[in-house]
Amino acid sequence: MKHTDIKALLCEPDKYLDTQVTVCGWVRTARDSKNISFIELNDGTTLNNIQLIIEKDKDGIGELKDAMVVGASLKAVGKFIVSERNGYEMNIDSITLLGACPSDYPLQKKRHTLEFLRTIPHLRPRARYFEAVFAVRDQLSHAVHSYFHKNGYKYVHAPIITGSDCEGAGEVFRVTTQPWNAEYKEEGEYFAEDFFGKKAGLTVSAQLEGEMAAMGLGRIYTFGPTFRAEHSNTTRHAAEFWQIEPEVCFAEIDDIIEIAEDFIKYIIRDVMENCKTELEFFNQWVEKGLIEKLTNVVNSDFGKVTYTEAVEILKKSGKEFKFPVEWGCDLQTEHEKYLTEEYFGKPVFVVHYPADIKAFYMKQNPDGKTVAATDLLVPGIGEIIGCSEREADYGKLKAAMEKRGMKLEEYQDYLDTRKYGSVPHSGFGLGFDRAIMYVTGVQNIRDTLLFPRTVGSL
Ligand code: 4AD
Ligand code: MG
Repeated sequence: MKHTDIKALLCEPDKYLDTQVTVCGWVRTARDSKNISFIELNDGTTLNNIQLIIEKDKDGIGELKDAMVVGASLKAVGKFIVSERNGYEMNIDSITLLGACPSDYPLQKKRHTLEFLRTIPHLRPRARYFEAVFAVRDQLSHAVHSYFHKNGYKYVHAPIITGSDCEGAGEVFRVTTQPWNAEYKEEGEYFAEDFFGKKAGLTVSAQLEGEMAAMGLGRIYTFGPTFRAEHSNTTRHAAEFWQIEPEVCFAEIDDIIEIAEDFIKYIIRDVMENCKTELEFFNQWVEKGLIEKLTNVVNSDFGKVTYTEAVEILKKSGKEFKFPVEWGCDLQTEHEKYLTEEYFGKPVFVVHYPADIKAFYMKQNPDGKTVAATDLLVPGIGEIIGCSEREADYGKLKAAMEKRGMKLEEYQDYLDTRKYGSVPHSGFGLGFDRAIMYVTGVQNIRDTLLFPRTVGSL
């Protein structure tokens, strides 16, 4: 169907002014005066609508009655002109109804609650809020690829079905075609007859495969869906979320922290340049001061504090935390919020966590207690990046795995990378959906995903 995008009309008006154009889209609002009808049409190419001016008794106008309905889809032909309000509009010659929209269309009102919109995920991309979210999601994805491509990283595709639990937190969704049968005497027998001949699940992180790829390609990144059967019913957890995981050889912890900061600033800058309309929308309706916040983020240094110092800061804060702080405890959301929102007032890397609360693969520090790991915490959300230098020493890695009771035979390939030409290397995982929350001010991860999957909800 030959037509012009509304974005093209509004972005390059001089090219189309006073010519006849065809547009297609959905009716956002429709109103009538005595002789003239007005339709605000949106086609998803831009947040902005084009106004159609229709003289009712003009010859050949077409099926106007069904077109003057919110949610109806139509094709309109007319002259693109400067409007009296200093914007642009179309003086319509003809309208063709593409799809009528009955009165039970749920998006009648201009503003709905986000809770309500979550009940109609199949229709919510037609709401302005979600048009803006998905535009930013798209731009941010491009920015991710652009950053790594420019910096010599190879984009690799790690498998989604895997036999290993990278984080060791037991949150793996099982993948099976084999119904359980009481005749199996033990697990091993059951899994042996399953599709892969062994226990399989959905990946919780592409890191282990990423490390193997980096060990030949030097610098790689993955960008794909990851799955965690976490029962955390929070605004920041999804069972299916997207993760960006670079892995860099010959990089130590301080190198990867520098890369992570550079990367975050790059992708934010890119969205600020390319999604101005959307960010203005979020700035006005979702998070007042958002643009100023992002400007500060790209123009100033992130904070950096050791875990041990962070614990001291929290203890001296005078705050009554629900979870008391002691060296060795995992930082809870309330602690993360205090550090990044109240104490630092900007993104902050917390570095060198106790080994006992972190995953097996992290580089063991000489103090024998901590690992070279860091989380990047940001105001409003908490952790958006989990990062570490990897343990490159075969013996130390094996010992960490044994200490956690891991089955070494399941990780033999991974251990091989430390056996054959091991090198210092580091990487991180950015929760992409959380990054979108941060850049847009959206408060719930469910509103960054097209079809969010969370515990109890599919
Ligand atoms: O901190 P995590 O668990 O780190 C890893 O998976 C490492 N293997 C990454 C690496 O070094 N390659 O997860 C990384 C990030 C978190 O910081 C968070 O932003 C996001 O993934 N994340 C989630 N996002 C949404 N829903 C969930 N359930 C998430 N779990 C983690
Ligand atoms: Mg983490």
